[in-house]
This record gives sequence, C-alpha cells and structure tokens, in this order.
Amino acid sequence: MKPASVLLTRLIPDAGIALLKQAGLNITLNPHARPLLPEELLREVPRHEAVICHLTDRITETVLQAARPRCRVFATCAVGYDHIDVEAASRLGIAVTNTPDVLTEATADLAWAALLAAARRLGEAERTVRAGAWRGWGMMDFLGVDVFGQTLGIVGAGRIGAATARRATGFNMRILYHDTTARQEIESLGGRRVSLDELLSSSDFISLHTPLLPETRGLLDARAFRRMKRTAVLVNTARGPVVDQAALIQALRRGQIAGAALDVYHDEPRVPRELMELENVVLLPHIGSATLTTRTRMAEIAARNVIAVLRNERPPCLVAPRPQ
Ligand code: GLV
Repeated sequence: MKPASVLLTRLIPDAGIALLKQAGLNITLNPHARPLLPEELLREVPRHEAVICHLTDRITETVLQAARPRCRVFATCAVGYDHIDVEAASRLGIAVTNTPDVLTEATADLAWAALLAAARRLGEAERTVRAGAWRGWGMMDFLGVDVFGQTLGIVGAGRIGAATARRATGFNMRILYHDTTARQEIESLGGRRVSLDELLSSSDFISLHTPLLPETRGLLDARAFRRMKRTAVLVNTARGPVVDQAALIQALRRGQIAGAALDVYHDEPRVPRELMELENVVLLPHIGSATLTTRTRMAEIAARNVIAVLRNERPPCLVAPRPQ
C-alpha cells in the first residue's frame, strides 16, 4: 500500500520529522520560507492524509472541504486553535489536534520577560544604546516602575496563566485573577478570583492568557482601559484580538495606562505604525513558545497526533473528535 502523506505547511524541528519518517509517512514540505498562500494551501491539502499546520494558516471550512475525503487530520503546532474552523472540521469528520502543556513554561517565561521589559523600559533603553545616543549614567534617566511587591492581574487562569502567576510569587506580588471558574492552582498560590472590573482597577500589571473565543474577542476595550490605573502595564502574550487594538493605542497615547508589552496583534504580522511610534510599548514578534526545546516538543506532539489518527488510534491531544 502507498505510504500516507503528510503536508508540513512550515518547517518543524528535526525530531518531529524523524517521528513521521519512522512511522513510514511521506513528507511534503512547503518549499517557501513563508506561510503557504491561501490558494497554495487549497491546492495542496487534497493531496495528503494529514496536515501539520500553524497559527499562520487559516484553516477555513473551504480548506477543510478541499482536504476531504483524503485528509483525516489537521495537527496544529500550537496550543491555540482559533485559526481552525473546528466546528466545520468536526462536521466533516476531520480530526483537529493541538500541542498544549509543553509550551506552558516557555510562554510564561516570555510573559515575564515582556512584563519586566515594559516595567523597566528595556526596549527604549536598548534603542538608545544601539543608536549611540547614550550620554552616560543619569539619575533621572529611564525611570521605570517597580515590579516587586506590586499586584499582578491574570486574565484567564488556565495552564499558562497559572504558570505566569507562579513566577510572581518570587516577586512577592499580590495575585488577582479573572476566569469563568475558580482555579485551584492559582488559588494555592494565594491568587484571589475577582470580577474583571476589580482586576482592571486594582492591578499594576495585567497579563492576558485567555484563548480567543467569541466571548473574549475585544475583552479589553476602551471602557476597560478607562478602569485601569494610569500606572498600569498591559501584557498580551495570548491573542491580539482579545484587545481592542485601536482602544489600546488611544489609551497609551492619552496616558490612560503607563505601558504595554505585546507579543500578539490583530492582523499579524502587521503591526500598526501608531504602536511602533510609541516608546512605552514593547513589541515582540509572537515568540511565546520560541525556544528550541519547546518547539521540538511541540513538533513531536504534532507528529504523534498525526501518527495516532492515521493508525485509527486516539491522538494524545485531540481538540475535535472525529465523529463516526
Ligand atoms: C501560540 O500562540 C500558540 O497558540 O501555541
């Protein structure tokens, strides 16, 4: 029998490729150093039994329809699967899998790197040095805000939110969280569950960790920014559309909040010029899980998910069950 074929929409670490090869699968790799264009994706998916995709691929109902009947699984190399029409996949009998857990600690580390960078104005300070514009130590230069002993508000206290909160105990921070349910892990750290309004008005640092869902889209809007302290710093390593980006730009410009650190945006990789012009924003290129170890583990899980589906076994990280 002809070996099954897997499409890799981007290059993944060797360990994932090795697992696919060991399982006897044929691999087709996107030859470009960029995501496949929508028309390329549509053309390619019907030729494979499985697709390992990424958050840069929009897996719409049209793509899923095109992938049928041959393709049996879309395995995203991400924890977030808002780029896949999961409902359509379930309806069409195509499995969807993701790569949770293995990226929790790396993403929480990045949230903290971003938080500290914004608090201590690292971007601005580094730009000054690189521009050759540093004129020597100054008592009143680059004055940031304290992190130690302040209040951290976690919006979305799942795995990554809780891991971010865990790091805050080393900074002796008070932890507030907002979630639809009480979360044991964060409560055991002393975290207190509060309404979103209370979190916004009481936190010095607000870190977003919710998935992008219809109910979290635009969660932080103009009204939310008005509730925040003028000294507050917003950290977003979750998904861009959780924040109303235009409202954030206004809030930063008007000094309604002190700063922000963003790893995600509305329409990646487009970053609005207005954000680039602001000194009090740290801008990162969606690198939450970007360590070699973490990306290797993600690739391995994606490969195991694919192999399991093709062997008619339950994949380790199934998002959408394959009805039948
Ligand atoms: C990254 O954003 C992910 O969802 O894994």
